[in-house]
Amino acid sequence: MVNTDEFIDEKVAEIREEVGDANAVIALSGGVDSSTAAALAYEAVGDQLTPVYVDTGLMRKGETDEIRETFDYMDSLRIVDAKERFLDALASVTDPEEKRHVIGEQFIREFETVAEETDADYLVQGTIYPDRIESEGTIKSHHNVGGLPDVVDFEGIVEPMRDLYKDEVREVARALDLEEIISERMPFPGPGLAVRILGEVTDEKLEVAREATHVVEEELAEYDPWQAFAAVLGKATGVKGDNRVHGYVVSVRSVESRDGMTARAQEIDWETLQRIQSRITGQNDNVSRVVYDVTHKPPATIEYE
Ligand code: XMP
Repeated sequence: MVNTDEFIDEKVAEIREEVGDANAVIALSGGVDSSTAAALAYEAVGDQLTPVYVDTGLMRKGETDEIRETFDYMDSLRIVDAKERFLDALASVTDPEEKRHVIGEQFIREFETVAEETDADYLVQGTIYPDRIESEGTIKSHHNVGGLPDVVDFEGIVEPMRDLYKDEVREVARALDLEEIISERMPFPGPGLAVRILGEVTDEKLEVAREATHVVEEELAEYDPWQAFAAVLGKATGVKGDNRVHGYVVSVRSVESRDGMTARAQEIDWETLQRIQSRITGQNDNVSRVVYDVTHKPPATIEYE
């Protein structure tokens, strides 16, 4: 475990020294890693740092508003509404790796625009230790590691948390007084709800994933999962009222983990599962089936793509 106060003082001084009078940017996703890195860097260089939050349209319910409120104290915060551009870029893309690639590319384009506008020489990133390990192993292309620096010609990359584990980052976040909503936030993948939707990402499937995830997060909060969410798997037959329908199959996933590298599916009581099923099928006319994923990691991954 790190001594958080010492860590913060040390990193703030390091960032100040490295960035000097120059400008810096950070892609702020609202996740605990980028939020903590942004808060550290903002403490170091203030409005010389432009935190950029790209609203990809692949976010969870209410997420953009929460970010706006939480980081309201940073005058330089930029919120980019890129929902339509992301959905257009994703039209007819079904291959998981291509999907990640398209999202990564679009993200870079959005980010690059702001980096150029603000004349930023430094890129701050919330990379943590497990990100570096998984990237080295190329298990999956992580869009928040390694992609950005190649495109924009930054003078330096600042990664204040590169040696920390997730639970240590949370401690630093708490010490920085980041609201609980951030410090205790479940990890959420950079490509957002898109990696929880099999096949093409459409507005309709996004709506199902977003609303169902909201139900799952509410219902399973008491289990204190590392991550709990809903994914849209495909379509299957069901009966609603007097009609047979071809509706979406929603998979509920809830896992325990220390760092996301391995995970265990949580044992959830039947009543809670039934309540989740009934809320999801009740609120979404186009969902005909809800299943619970009992697979650990390995052999499955936490996300679906
Ligand atoms: P998997 O699905 O590989 O996920 O078991 C392990 C952890 O990483 C998160 N994840 C990502 N985070 N960008 C991210 O920032 C990504 O592309 C990405 N893919 C997966 C996932 O939510 C889990 O916590």
